[in-house]
Amino acid sequence: MQLLNASGCLDALTAPEVARSLDAFVTKTVTPEPREGNAPPRIAEVEHGMLNAIGLANTGRDAFVARMLPALRDLGVPLWVSVGGFSARDYAETCEQLDDVTIELNLSCPNVDEAPESAAAIVAACREVTANPLYAKLSPHAWDMGETVRAVEAAGADGISLVNTLRGLAVDAELRPVLARGAGGYSGPALKPVALAAIHAARRATELPIVGMGGVWTGRDVLEFVACGATHVALGTVLFTDPDAPSRVRAELADEQSRVTRATVATPGN
Ligand SMILES: Cc1cc2nc3c(=O)[nH]c(=O)nc-3n(C[C@H](O)[C@H](O)[C@H](O)COP(=O)(O)O)c2cc1C
Repeated sequence: MQLLNASGCLDALTAPEVARSLDAFVTKTVTPEPREGNAPPRIAEVEHGMLNAIGLANTGRDAFVARMLPALRDLGVPLWVSVGGFSARDYAETCEQLDDVTIELNLSCPNVDEAPESAAAIVAACREVTANPLYAKLSPHAWDMGETVRAVEAAGADGISLVNTLRGLAVDAELRPVLARGAGGYSGPALKPVALAAIHAARRATELPIVGMGGVWTGRDVLEFVACGATHVALGTVLFTDPDAPSRVRAELADEQSRVTRATVATPGN
């Protein structure tokens, strides 16, 4: 089991020691053109989590490849690059420019218009141009998770990342949406049962590695994600409140595992 960050939840260049405490660092989603993202307010704390409508703000592919990628390589942590776009071609053109990294295709951002092609068609277009490991990051909104997972696997995905945020909205004291865009992506503790259900369904459909995320806060959460089928686990929203979460979660996980082992040894026949 590897511990990663969830895309968009850690800036490795401003917090390199946090990035180095992970088994791999996942970048924020990179799009072909630079993007300022959506107008503020685009982040809000809400019950049991947070809402964001960042809208894939990033430097764009050229600046990313020329400047950010070399700086990230200097961290000495295995890199995953999250790739986004507005057509299958956008995704494939970025994949073509990436060597030596794992690629996570963000097929599920709730805060921007989606590409017209299906997730499977986007994976197929990327598979044609890269031999790098390709993960498909899916939305928890898919009703038949098994079908989506089988389709991206058939298209050539090497792994699945689950889940991206759920669409959510909160209103202020005057009953107006708190985010300028209205709805945003809902993340944090409330997402955990949704993520576990998605991973459980995905695991029944595939033997590919699955990176599980969605409200992971503790070592116990990691155990639960793995029990439901996750191969690796990523920390997202928790990093905004607790940058030391990677080392805390690892310590808690070791405790939980030894407790589970002791309990099993104490009850022979289990
Ligand atoms: C502020 C913020 C920015 C995010 N940006 C991205 C992104 O650029 N690409 C992406 O695939 N997911 C993005 N996500 C979604 C997370 O990677 C993750 O899938 C989601 O937040 C669920 O995990 P969590 O509940 O542990 O945060 C973002 C989430 C937050 C809160």
